[in-house]
Amino acid sequence: MVENIKWHSGEINKVAREQLLGQQGIVLWFTGLSGSGKSTIAVEVEKRLYRKGKAVYRLDGDNLRFGLNKDLGFTAPDRVENIRRIGEVAALFADAGLITLASFISPYQAGREAAKKAVGSDNFKEIYIKADLKTCAQRDPKGLYQKAKKGEIKNFTGLSAPYEEPENPDLIVDTQKLSLEDSVDLVLDLI
Ligand code: PPS
Repeated sequence: MVENIKWHSGEINKVAREQLLGQQGIVLWFTGLSGSGKSTIAVEVEKRLYRKGKAVYRLDGDNLRFGLNKDLGFTAPDRVENIRRIGEVAALFADAGLITLASFISPYQAGREAAKKAVGSDNFKEIYIKADLKTCAQRDPKGLYQKAKKGEIKNFTGLSAPYEEPENPDLIVDTQKLSLEDSVDLVLDLI
């Protein structure tokens, strides 16, 4: 509860930090099914930006669940809380002046909108990494679809848990049609 607390501003703000770093603190939010290519694209975007001398940091679904979100599973309320926390973390990273790459299934439109609100709409780009369920299940890079089909994983996105497609994303990257190189170029064109 937000009681008996007061925001304490410092004297160094986002603009000052951005001037120091020579870049805008923004969040590129990659959403899509498991196996759609979110993490693969984010890793390449990170490399390309780093090589250009940009301060960039990647937040990834699997990785965050090792620490900050290790208490959360894949039920609907846990996913809502997962994305709420990540939205707040991404907002802090953008405020620090970093180019922040967030790759999370983030299956609910409301959760993605809340993340955008936390970050600020001027500093947030929603990128839909699009590949249909059949394609993702064929790729199955971690063998998770196989396990889910055998009933070994519950609440699996696309099979036994929902994925709400973005209604109005800033960019759609169709990984069924585009190469990795072209996908990365599209993302970089956005910024
Ligand atoms: S969410 O929906 O945004 O809270 O999910 P996220 O934090 O991005 O974590 C997704 C990764 O967790 C693995 N995994 C599952 N995904 C979907 N459904 C179920 N039940 C599940 N269990 C484990 C999987 O490796 C996801 O990573 P990606 O990169 O999307 O394949």
